[in-house]
Amino acid sequence: MAEQWWKESVVYQIYPRSFNDSNGDGIGDIPGITEKLDYLVELGVNVIWLSPVYDSPNDDNGYDIRNYTAIMDEFGSMEDFDRLLEEAHHKGLKIVMDLVVNHTSDEHPWFVESKSSKESPKRDYYIWKEGQNGQPPTNWEAAFSGSTWEYNEASDEYYLHIFSKKQPDLNWENEKVREEVYDMMSWWLDKGIDGFRMDVVNFISKDPSYPDGEVEEGKEYGDGSPYFMNGPRIHEFLHEMNQKVLSRYDIMTVGEMPGVTPEQGKRYTVEDRNELNMVFHFEHMDVDGGGPLGKWSLNDWKLTDLKKILSKWQYELEEEGWNSLYWNNHDQPRVVSRFGDDQEYRKKSAKMLGTCLHLMKGTPYIYQGEELGMTNVAFERIEDYEDLESLNMYQERVDQYGDDVKDVMKRIHHKGRDNARTPMQWSSEEHGGFTTGTPWLRVNPNYKTINAEEVLDDPNSVFHYYQKLIQLRKSNDNVVHGKFDLLLENSEDIFAYTRTYEGEVLLILCNFSNKEQEAELSEFRDKSGEIILTNREESTFNSPELFKVTLEPYEATVISVDK
Ligand code: NOJ
Repeated sequence: MAEQWWKESVVYQIYPRSFNDSNGDGIGDIPGITEKLDYLVELGVNVIWLSPVYDSPNDDNGYDIRNYTAIMDEFGSMEDFDRLLEEAHHKGLKIVMDLVVNHTSDEHPWFVESKSSKESPKRDYYIWKEGQNGQPPTNWEAAFSGSTWEYNEASDEYYLHIFSKKQPDLNWENEKVREEVYDMMSWWLDKGIDGFRMDVVNFISKDPSYPDGEVEEGKEYGDGSPYFMNGPRIHEFLHEMNQKVLSRYDIMTVGEMPGVTPEQGKRYTVEDRNELNMVFHFEHMDVDGGGPLGKWSLNDWKLTDLKKILSKWQYELEEEGWNSLYWNNHDQPRVVSRFGDDQEYRKKSAKMLGTCLHLMKGTPYIYQGEELGMTNVAFERIEDYEDLESLNMYQERVDQYGDDVKDVMKRIHHKGRDNARTPMQWSSEEHGGFTTGTPWLRVNPNYKTINAEEVLDDPNSVFHYYQKLIQLRKSNDNVVHGKFDLLLENSEDIFAYTRTYEGEVLLILCNFSNKEQEAELSEFRDKSGEIILTNREESTFNSPELFKVTLEPYEATVISVDK
């Protein structure tokens, strides 16, 4: 496998609105990010992924773009952005931008023009269709509730929006649209940015026959995803994008791809197909969802399922292609609350989860606050939430289906996107030191004990442990290139695997339970090793042999196995 800088990198995702407010208006901004670059350098990451900072009416917090080459007023100016890029580069940090081109805002001039008349030269920039017998063109359900089609009375046609009605889908069949997007991408790359995270990029090619989707029992709408995920021309479009734009720069690309399988993931990332470097899949994020309520179900999850999913991706992309590794992002609940223990074992389980992820093969992504062990939040009132996905779901379930409010709030507490979006907790000062004004979204009340100041002071903090994880990747080729092998496949408590590279073996043991567990590893009979990283209370190892190791609750230990 060829060596590339993005294979050796650790990425830190910033959700600018919630990161750091420099001017007291309650909203994070670009100068606020620039102020914190040294903090990221100290953590040791070398790439920043910036969630959208473009001009937007903020129906979906910037994932609805009105102008691709302007900065959102609330975040600052283009000068602020240029300064951020320059300072980041100066400090050895690369910047990857979010690219949202499955859809624009309905306030983007292209859409305003497209909507103005059927004869508009930009009509075909978006997907307009006639209804059938007074009904939308298909029965598809939008990602943020309701139909994917919005009726426009003036033209008696509907436009497609897979997300909110303020996020109309671009028509990628139109070559002019593709050219406009490629020009815009080149404009940013010529500025010197270091790559793109591509929002739902596997949605850009739609099945041109627009069939109805299957309607699950108890549901009003059909599932259109088979007709817009990984559609018929997706590889052609990505290859074209690669040839016309990406291949001209030394950058990294990661495609966000709901519904992608490991086999498809490989097709998107195999080097000689010249499409993308890696993808974000969602299989492990779906492990506690499913059924008619989809992501909002509160299903129990099984460690064996999580292991099956993650190891399938490891094996499939072993020889060709490349994995991304993540537990969190701005759309997901906080991992320590989801797969760890956010009470008694908060720090310990946060470190364990970090270890389990960072020692796998692929490029790890840290979401802001993960390095503090930030947790989910549970505001009592729906009025304290801002995320339109949660608000729409609440309205639909409470008003339309008559669900119990308590029950709906519980779903939001466990799965809502605002869990990830509460402001970054910098200190124990008011509003966690995020702003001197009133934050756009309330701070998690636990900021007094969980904050950056605290973790920087504490040598045993999650932050300092993440530092070590990142250093280990930098100093050990096995962590980057080694072959992955799953052990103890059937254990519901222990996630164990090895990495092997040029005769060196690393053994990674992670206890996902709050009880002591014994790992029996027959492969390691008569073998001993040296601990190179652990979250144990005692960093000594009382077992001289590796075939029977007793793990503390939520322990993670990385062992270099003696030859
Ligand atoms: C995925 C993004 O991560 C999410 O935040 C956004 O709402 C949708 N795509 C639509 O752009």
